[in-house]
Amino acid sequence: MLIVANWKAYIEDLKKGKELVTAAKRLVRAQKCDIVLAPPAPFLGALAAGNTSKIVFATQDVSATLGGAATGENTAAMCASAGAQYAIIGHSERRAAGDSNEIVAAKLSHAIARNLSPILCIGEAQRDSEGRYLAGVREQIVSALTPLTQKERGHVSIAYEPLWAIGKSADNAIRPHDLAEMVLYIRKVLSELLSGKDARAARVIYGGAVEPSNIRDLARESGVDGFLVGHASADEHSFTELIRQVS
Ligand code: PGA
Repeated sequence: MLIVANWKAYIEDLKKGKELVTAAKRLVRAQKCDIVLAPPAPFLGALAAGNTSKIVFATQDVSATLGGAATGENTAAMCASAGAQYAIIGHSERRAAGDSNEIVAAKLSHAIARNLSPILCIGEAQRDSEGRYLAGVREQIVSALTPLTQKERGHVSIAYEPLWAIGKSADNAIRPHDLAEMVLYIRKVLSELLSGKDARAARVIYGGAVEPSNIRDLARESGVDGFLVGHASADEHSFTELIRQVS
């Protein structure tokens, strides 16, 4: 099971980040999960330096630009150089700040070019009884993967994150049965874009209101390969509980 801890901007103090990394290193030794930590960009280098544990690091985003005269950007090359192995791309909070499907596709290519494994975030803002939201989810996947080669597509993990669940408490998360349906749907879309082997191997994870109280049921009954966790990953106690629940 893959657990990606998206600290967002919850952690604003490097010392707090170091404490969480120490806790995660302890956990990864004792438990069976793969843990990916996504700290805020300014902390990435300091936290990833000298890391020899099984923990790996992600950047929460990469720039759409490739370097040069671009003040304030965090390019894929910088993030890789600072120690990231994964890149979260297309998070709804970045999409809300202006990332279109085209920008997400460009970022995905930049990440792959720098050997970062992309975690492509997709998900609908709301559901409708006719299932129109499924077309939007499909479009997010198709627009992001189509520009890539077959081989590159095989490196992308999908994080299904319905916007209506993000940042809420466990009661508002998706139900395991509904998640199982979404995982199947996403796998069907992937099977149209990837070779059969890559489509079967592709990781589909879930994010949105994942907490210690619901992670086990979501893991057991839905067929997901892991979770992208926001608020519950930025606190040592709840992160420890999360990992215990799925190990
Ligand atoms: P949440 O966020 O766990 O706080 O709902 C998940 C995410 O946005 O990645």
